[in-house]
Amino acid sequence: MAQQIKEQILKDLILLPEDTEVFHAIDWESCPQHIAFIMDGNGRWAKAQGKPRTYGHSAGVRTVHEMVEVCGKLPVRHVTFYAFSTENWKRSETEVRALMGLFSSSLRKYLDELETQGVRIDWIGDISAMGGQIEKEFTEAKERTKHNSRIHMSLALNYSGRADLVSAVRALGVKLRNGEISPLEITEESIQNHLSTRFLPEPELLIRTSGEMRLSNFMLWECAYSELYFSSVHWPDFKKVHLFEAILAYQKRQRRFGGE
Ligand code: IPE
Ligand code: IPE
Ligand code: MG
Repeated sequence: MAQQIKEQILKDLILLPEDTEVFHAIDWESCPQHIAFIMDGNGRWAKAQGKPRTYGHSAGVRTVHEMVEVCGKLPVRHVTFYAFSTENWKRSETEVRALMGLFSSSLRKYLDELETQGVRIDWIGDISAMGGQIEKEFTEAKERTKHNSRIHMSLALNYSGRADLVSAVRALGVKLRNGEISPLEITEESIQNHLSTRFLPEPELLIRTSGEMRLSNFMLWECAYSELYFSSVHWPDFKKVHLFEAILAYQKRQRRFGGE
């Protein structure tokens, strides 16, 4: 079985010499079902080359594209990318505008290809505050790809773990006030069912690039028992080999969930 999975992946993937050793070290039968990425380091990557931060964001889109393509060929079912946090509005107007433009233009650029590849496009977060154009384009892309089942890709847009928890608590508060639920029906399960991640399994593996070791308000509830992996590589330089290294590191962890 393990051999069969591996052979199937090898048929689909083009491996570079540096990918091979780590690829073969992975047990592909126990691959994480959901990998979440905190894509970080675009700005520093660009600055190091004397380029504007927005140049780094454009390069970062290529990494998203590559990760979706690769993960779609692996036994991974869901990938989530932290693309814009509720705190990222603090950035300069130029950068925010460039990012908004990039979300739209990248979706337009890759939509046909993603659709053909069997990618189901989705998002988490309050996209309505990002402008009518983005909301419309993402809604259409979600509708167009809703039957795709190769891989489920979500972008976290105007998302933060706390904001998502606040909106879940508000929704439960309304139900409580209307007498639809009792306080005892506020449970871990009901909170989870009101988060924008309710259709996603919790990520087994969370990868953050650029050497920063924090969550920056990402999936605070969902990552309670996720394995965290920090790569020193900036997001535009994150390649297959780095993904494989992260998966291998994940497999070496002993997940205990509070048990012995
Ligand atoms: C991550 O890269 C991309 C977004 C937050 C949209 P950054 O823009 O945070 O890059 P650094 O961390 O400043 O290098
Ligand atoms: C986290 O990165 C947000 C995204 C990747 C979208 P930031 O670069 O905004 O996080 P901090 O400010 O370094 O914590
Ligand atoms: Mg950053």
